[in-house]
Amino acid sequence: MRDILEQLEERRAQARLGGGQKRIDIQHAKGKLTARERLEVLLDEGSFEEFDMYVLHRATDFGMASHKIAGDGVVTGWGTINGRLVYVFSQDFTVLGGSLSETHAQKICKIMDMAVKNGAPIIGLNDSGGARIQEGVASLAGYAEVFKRNVDASGVVPQISLIMGPCAGGAVYSPAMTDFIFMVRDSSYMFVTGPDVVKTVTNEIVSAEELGGARTHTQKSSVADGAFENDVEALEGVRKLFDYLPLNNRQKPPLRPFYDDPQRIDKKLDTLVPDSATKPYDMKELIVTLADEGDFFEIQTEFAKNIIIGLIRIEGQTVGVVGNQPMVLAGCLDIDSSRKAARFVRFCDAFNIPLLTLVDVPGFLPGTAQEYGGVIKHGAKLLFAYAQASVPMVTLITRKAYGGAYDVMASKHIGADINYAWPTAEIAVMGAKGATEILYRSELGDAEKIAGRTRDYEINFANPFKAAERGFIDEVIMPHSSRRRIARAFAALRSKRVEGPWRKHDTMPL
Ligand code: HXC
Repeated sequence: MRDILEQLEERRAQARLGGGQKRIDIQHAKGKLTARERLEVLLDEGSFEEFDMYVLHRATDFGMASHKIAGDGVVTGWGTINGRLVYVFSQDFTVLGGSLSETHAQKICKIMDMAVKNGAPIIGLNDSGGARIQEGVASLAGYAEVFKRNVDASGVVPQISLIMGPCAGGAVYSPAMTDFIFMVRDSSYMFVTGPDVVKTVTNEIVSAEELGGARTHTQKSSVADGAFENDVEALEGVRKLFDYLPLNNRQKPPLRPFYDDPQRIDKKLDTLVPDSATKPYDMKELIVTLADEGDFFEIQTEFAKNIIIGLIRIEGQTVGVVGNQPMVLAGCLDIDSSRKAARFVRFCDAFNIPLLTLVDVPGFLPGTAQEYGGVIKHGAKLLFAYAQASVPMVTLITRKAYGGAYDVMASKHIGADINYAWPTAEIAVMGAKGATEILYRSELGDAEKIAGRTRDYEINFANPFKAAERGFIDEVIMPHSSRRRIARAFAALRSKRVEGPWRKHDTMPL
């Protein structure tokens, strides 16, 4: 019996070595953790239960029959994060570059199926050269099985991807269909085809970093939702995000203990909006002031900075925040900011996360670049997402809410439940200057007259009361009492339920 137990220990130890000590040392030399070390950081201590440790690939071509490593390049199983269940896979780059074989795919599919059946999130730690070239179509089939499951799990359980090494081909398409992608700076790359193929096909010479590094994907392509300095920070960041999320679409996000008084008054908010309508201020100041303990998990920090998205808690309850940022492009809506916010609104709605919208928006960015780029369709994505959302929605207009952007940014008309405005709010079709120049075109030569007209317009229209008179704004609130009012609003909406008409699915402007 002792022999049998020892043999089991030996087999386990062998499997845990993956591609061997030499390759583990190379992984460490690159500043990367191994697949198993990563799981140790991600999961609660001692909580990991492994599946399929002894699985071997079945390929025989290219001398593969004699190249078998237990586990086949991916560590899979389940564990907990702060006591809550999660299914995980972690690709092992020391085994054939973490490439995906038929059996490697089967291991991932098994835990994805378990996650959906048991209503728990899936976290994938990706470090893979893509489809295992030696296996040909069998590995492509494996990828397609994973892709299909990503789609079936979308909106059912949260799916989070961490990119922790060079990921190519299929290794980027599976993450692309998950809810969040985070990268590690200077050691992770994502591309459909690597720099060598790019050079062959297009003659373009580009480094891996420029083509698909963290900077590229967080600042230019917006494929990634954030980047971290190293493996440990990335894994800890994901643990933090996980705590905001429900386990599945039938649950509410977890309530966390809070030590911050929901009735808290913040006098500094009374002077947040500057005297001049053209002067910027930082909307993040308002967000952290509203949040429990000032904690804000921002998403896509580096992309389309004219809109801010992320998660906070109010009275211990997770809230998704969307806010225009007056510091960048005056907070206007454009193609990138509309896409960024639309996706986030849909994620929150799918997972029962209430939405807080903070509005200071002068309108949509005009110009040929925007029109040629399809701002009509992209702006419509945000409008569609808000209009479709059925989670509790509270909106606060701090300053400008002009034109179509007023409608889009969670107005009462498209489904927000409680709409507040500060006394500094200006809700109108457009700003005073633009409006008077159109309405009084014949007087344009007379600067004094136009100045008077502009002043009149400001007094009459650039305030929240026209909207409040119609009930489009439920209450004009004191800035200093915003946290208290918003906390009470969300508390009153906790049991909100909305039934829509039956349909197979919508046809949103993708
Ligand atoms: C089999 C692979 C592999 C792959 C890497 N390896 N990728 N083996 N299939 N796809 C092996 C290497 O041969 C090497 O083995 C070991 O992993 C480590 O790789 P290195 O190249 O030494 O590492 P590095 O220099 O860090 O470069 C990593 C890399 C590069 C950028 C990922 O290996 C690479 O470009 N690989 C191919 C990427 C690719 O084109 N994949 C197919 C995509 S098509 P040895 O034994 O020599 O150490 C695809 C189809 C699905 O995925 C599409 C669905 C939409």
